[in-house]
Amino acid sequence: MTGLMAEHTGQDQHFRHQHLFGIEQLSVSDILLVLNTARSFRDISARAIKKVPTLRGKTVVNLFFEPSTRTRLSFEIAAKRMSADTFNISSAGSSAVKGETLIDTAKNIQAMKPDVVILRHSSSGAPYLLARNIEAAVINAGDGAHEHPSQGLLDMMTVLDHKGRLDGLKIAIIGDIAHSRVARSDILGFVRMGSEVFLAGPQTFIPPEVSRLGATVCGSVAEAVRDADVVMTLRIQLERQNDPLIPSLREYAKFYGINRKVLELAREDAIVMHPGPVNRGVELSPDVADGSRSVILDQVTNGVAVRMALLYLILGGSKGNEGQGDR
Ligand code: NCD
Repeated sequence: MTGLMAEHTGQDQHFRHQHLFGIEQLSVSDILLVLNTARSFRDISARAIKKVPTLRGKTVVNLFFEPSTRTRLSFEIAAKRMSADTFNISSAGSSAVKGETLIDTAKNIQAMKPDVVILRHSSSGAPYLLARNIEAAVINAGDGAHEHPSQGLLDMMTVLDHKGRLDGLKIAIIGDIAHSRVARSDILGFVRMGSEVFLAGPQTFIPPEVSRLGATVCGSVAEAVRDADVVMTLRIQLERQNDPLIPSLREYAKFYGINRKVLELAREDAIVMHPGPVNRGVELSPDVADGSRSVILDQVTNGVAVRMALLYLILGGSKGNEGQGDR
């Protein structure tokens, strides 16, 4: 454990947050507390009986107004492995399509007394609005182009697993920074933990104000990837662009896609990450996506552990039960 992390082991501390809106609100100790807790929960998923009674009697509502495979399933699996009751509402099947406002939806959900609502929404800031209108805890599962804190945390957990530290690393993030909530959460998280983040992509995808988050904007992919410990690629968020901001996906792949040749510039032990869903052949060549440096599926595995930890820390599960088997 290196300097910054030795000072903040995250042990014996309470998670001081009722809600989780973003990495922006989390201190180094908060982040380490989540990652340490997640690590202690990870083995539950490897057991034959993948269930502990920690959150028995708690009600978790997944309220997803945007498509999701990984995040929604991951929160649901996390809650079920902790014995909470989970319910899923997605936009297509909700009264949002009938014109109900988010506040009205919130008040009706609150009337059924959930303990936590996990919200994915296309509007930045929607989790704050929800939290002002319900008593349940709110966890942001992605709000517009703003933040996706549980993804940031699972990315940090994955890097910590592979690199043994989170400080002093060179993290390259390549692609659609402007529209990516994952990029914002990752930049905030890795910078807070003492790593350096380098960004590259088409100019239309790199907002100048991103350097205020502490990241360095590079003039080329090669500059960002050279000697990097971590190469993170992002999907182009076409759903957040009214007019396409790049001429074509083929051209994007040629200049900004990560393939084996570009990856040679990174450190020999560099890892390749992607939050998913991957557009194969666009932001990542298939051989790199499936190659030995890729930790994409480790990210997914860690996602369950991080979400178990978040539910536990936010819902205050009964201590002592977390490491035990089914009862
Ligand atoms: C990301 C998201 O929804 O922001 N996906 C995810 O949650 N794993 C990234 C993306 O959609 O490209």
